[in-house]
Amino acid sequence: MAKTEDNLKEAFAGESQAYQKYLAYAQRAADESMDGIYKLFHAVAASEKIHAQRHASYLKSVKNTAENLKEAMAGEMHEFKTMYPSMIADAKAEKKAGPEISFSHAREVEKIHHGLFKKALENPDKFPVHDYFICNACGYIVAGEPPEKCPVCGAVKKSFHKVD
Ligand code: FE2
Ligand code: FE2
Ligand code: FE2
Repeated sequence: MAKTEDNLKEAFAGESQAYQKYLAYAQRAADESMDGIYKLFHAVAASEKIHAQRHASYLKSVKNTAENLKEAMAGEMHEFKTMYPSMIADAKAEKKAGPEISFSHAREVEKIHHGLFKKALENPDKFPVHDYFICNACGYIVAGEPPEKCPVCGAVKKSFHKVD
């Protein structure tokens, strides 16, 4: 029985989660003015990211770019059509206002991700090289120039950063 493919998926998921969790822990350490711990969590997060990406490079689920775009579109569609609507309903029922907004904003941004991947899939070889800007509050992504106001969450222009 071949276990390695499943192990790669499990390790990829675990390392990815550790990466994000340590970034959140780093942020908390910074908020608590523990700069040494901030730097430690930040550095270990960078290390976990390498583990995640290295494991992912051996996953059979990473295919050629056209296939990857299709898979990414399907995943984004699942999120905005099925996953987030149900999570938003649960948050509403449980009166969890913060998570409801977090899920709602993410749902709107997943639609945009889907649209961007769809556009890219029309002609992957000729897809232009754009600069992308991200809203730090909600993750809204836009090519070219940041807007005056985030269309998803209303954040102002200076809350956008350019992706390297
Ligand atoms: Fe690791
Ligand atoms: Fe997405
Ligand atoms: Fe936003």
